[in-house]
Amino acid sequence: MTWSRHEMQYIRDAAGNPNPSTLALGAAATVTVAAASFYAATRPTPLAPPVDMDNQSIRLPDGSRTSTWVPDGKSFIEYAHEDARTTHECFKRGLRISRNKPCLGRRNGPNRSYTWLTYQEVFDMAKDFGSGLLEEGLEPGAETIVGIYAANRVEWTVTDQACSMFSIVTCALYDTLGPDVCAYIINQTEMPLVICENAAKAQLLLDKGGSLKSLKCLIIMDPISDQNRTTAQLHDIKLVQFETVQNAGRANPKDAVPPSPDDLCLICYTSGTTGDPKGAMMTHRSMIANLASISVFASKGGVGITAEDSSLSYLPLAHVFERGLQTIFFMNGARLGFSSGDVKLLTDDLQALKPTVFPTVPRLLNRIYDKVISGVKTSKLKSMLFSLACSSKEKELRRRIIRKDSIWDWLVFGKIQALLGGRVRLVFTASAPLEPKVLNFTRCAFGCVVIEGYGQTENTAGISFNIPGEYEPGHCGPPLPCNIVKLEDVPEMDYYAKDDKGEVLCKGPSVFCGYYKSEDKTKEALDEDGWLHTGDIGQWLPNGCLKIIDRKKNIFKLSQGEYVAAEKIENTYMRSQFVAQAFIEGDSLQPYLMGVMVPDEEELMAWAAKNDASGSYRELCARKDVKEIILKDINAVGKKAGLKGFEMVKDIIVYPELFSVDNGLLTPTFKNKRPNLRKFFKTQIQELYKKHSSS
Ligand SMILES: *[C@@H]1O[C@H](CO)[C@@H](O)[C@H](O)[C@H]1NC(C)=O
Ligand SMILES: *[C@@H]1O[C@H](CO)[C@@H](O)[C@H](O)[C@H]1NC(C)=O
Ligand SMILES: *[C@@H]1O[C@H](CO)[C@@H](O)[C@H](O)[C@H]1NC(C)=O
Ligand SMILES: *[C@@H]1O[C@H](CO)[C@@H](O)[C@H](O)[C@H]1NC(C)=O
Ligand SMILES: *[C@@H]1O[C@H](CO)[C@@H](O)[C@H](O)[C@H]1NC(C)=O
Repeated sequence: MTWSRHEMQYIRDAAGNPNPSTLALGAAATVTVAAASFYAATRPTPLAPPVDMDNQSIRLPDGSRTSTWVPDGKSFIEYAHEDARTTHECFKRGLRISRNKPCLGRRNGPNRSYTWLTYQEVFDMAKDFGSGLLEEGLEPGAETIVGIYAANRVEWTVTDQACSMFSIVTCALYDTLGPDVCAYIINQTEMPLVICENAAKAQLLLDKGGSLKSLKCLIIMDPISDQNRTTAQLHDIKLVQFETVQNAGRANPKDAVPPSPDDLCLICYTSGTTGDPKGAMMTHRSMIANLASISVFASKGGVGITAEDSSLSYLPLAHVFERGLQTIFFMNGARLGFSSGDVKLLTDDLQALKPTVFPTVPRLLNRIYDKVISGVKTSKLKSMLFSLACSSKEKELRRRIIRKDSIWDWLVFGKIQALLGGRVRLVFTASAPLEPKVLNFTRCAFGCVVIEGYGQTENTAGISFNIPGEYEPGHCGPPLPCNIVKLEDVPEMDYYAKDDKGEVLCKGPSVFCGYYKSEDKTKEALDEDGWLHTGDIGQWLPNGCLKIIDRKKNIFKLSQGEYVAAEKIENTYMRSQFVAQAFIEGDSLQPYLMGVMVPDEEELMAWAAKNDASGSYRELCARKDVKEIILKDINAVGKKAGLKGFEMVKDIIVYPELFSVDNGLLTPTFKNKRPNLRKFFKTQIQELYKKHSSS
């Protein structure tokens, strides 16, 4: 029996009907039968596991673990193709295999389609721009370091490729570093030149005047005026239009000076919690070892990147995760469309681009999950169909059947898939652990391979990744074939390697070569035997996978001696329907925690409507009863999630504005930017402590 379109429409209509629960039962039963026959008719094929899923990594004699593809823990994957051993060669490989195929796409605002530049066009632009940089007086070679200060866009990648072509080292500057840190970086690296998005960003640097002794020239991507030029002249800095440099290069083409694998490729600065920012140095060899491993890993798992793939570039290029993904894409001749730059337009971009690969971060998946769950909760029927759909899909997942053409996709999940453009076949999530229920939901609802990864800037992008087709949530897979991983005792936190718990250490060709001009910090991160100390606490699961359970950083001790991991608590509180974002603060002189909650505007307004509370969102945020409701709800959520008494906040501040990269309260990977949050809320938190200690 197969289902006609008409019958399906009937069920779909029923699903949209808010109330009758008898119909729900009937429909649910019918749907189950239908699903079975639908299954038989479409005959999906399961994904073949490339490793024994109960034994995903190999234990070496010293207790460290290695990928099953590197059984000796030594013969790591260093590159995927003999002709792609630097980022420059990766792009050339893409050019060779897809010369006139699209490479980079952009769009001029919402409701427009993407327009594409081919590989050949991007390559020519990079050659012109690179030649133009030499015309501006830059010396080719790894002694030259230039800055890129812009949001993701075509010129970013063109600059990156141009520099790579002439062995010039790039270093990204970004807003969340703040102007002082940017000036510090320019001074430390003695940059002669920064490629900037627009005159406003250039001005932020110019304002730092005297501390920029090395800086001679700013190249601006957007149009600039004579007035802008004159302003810069006052600081003895030349302002040039991006296009002008490109034209000059075209008129005076230079031969490429390609880098060798051991040349420095990029420096990636992180602001760090304390002290000066640190610039992690990556050679082409370390970059490619990591990216090739990810690429080979995906291929072995049956989901390799090909020239048919496309992705939206919206995670900041200043971060190595996105930078690395681009390189993997180029290496395989795939295409990338740039986002419009506005988070609100993300779904619009996705629908215009219809990507096949979607890199993301937990924060975004949590938002999708919360929206769907609160939508489903509005009716019994919807909620029933939804659980039925999830459990059926989970059953399929356990047989490694991954698809978006089941009846459940058509009935329930189709809308969610359409949000992403409808063609996504591979999702990468990294930067923080994803809650099991959200990962389960994502795997069911997106109907595609969802890989959770774990990595760190100091190891390029990835340390361990889920095997494609993994259905158990709660871990980030075995080590990638570019590194081995070991756990080390952390006695002060009661983690011991003998219990398969400890600080995550990794070693291999993908590990960075140190922090720029900072031997002390390099020594802290990289020991004499070449192990990178990540500061994360991991656990080995019986199946040989790594689970991140804690952090050595972000831990504070309360006055009664208990250790608290702020991030874990924040992630728990964000599961409250009322909470969009959370920041937890503790004080070693106080026995309890305080928090800052940014309410979910929609949920709060819905609550207000139901409870006859009037006022705007901001007015509601200022109300005492609203605070009480939120405090009650988060502590209920916390209790349910098993937070201990001292892990619960005593009181909160309700703050009406979302933390963002723009206001400096989030990192470019959308994690809480703790030092800034701490500074920003210091007075208010102190007041809360005062209030409670005097009462
Ligand atoms: C896991 O695999 C290794 C070798 O790959 C083998 O020595 C070991 O016995 C296996 N363990 C289990 C539990 O199957
Ligand atoms: C885009 O299209 C939608 C619906 O067709 C419309 O509501 C919206 O105003 C349009 N936006 C722009 C910027 O044209
Ligand atoms: C650049 O020039 C334009 C036009 O003269 C002016 O409006 C703008 O404020 C200038 N920007 C800066 C940062 O100086
Ligand atoms: C610039 O760097 C030098 C060392 O390279 C240092 O002595 C100097 O103080 C720095 N200047 C500023 C303004 O940071
Ligand atoms: C997620 O799915 C896995 C595999 O189907 C299952 O074992 C687990 O209980 C689920 N976890 C949650 C939190 O739903």
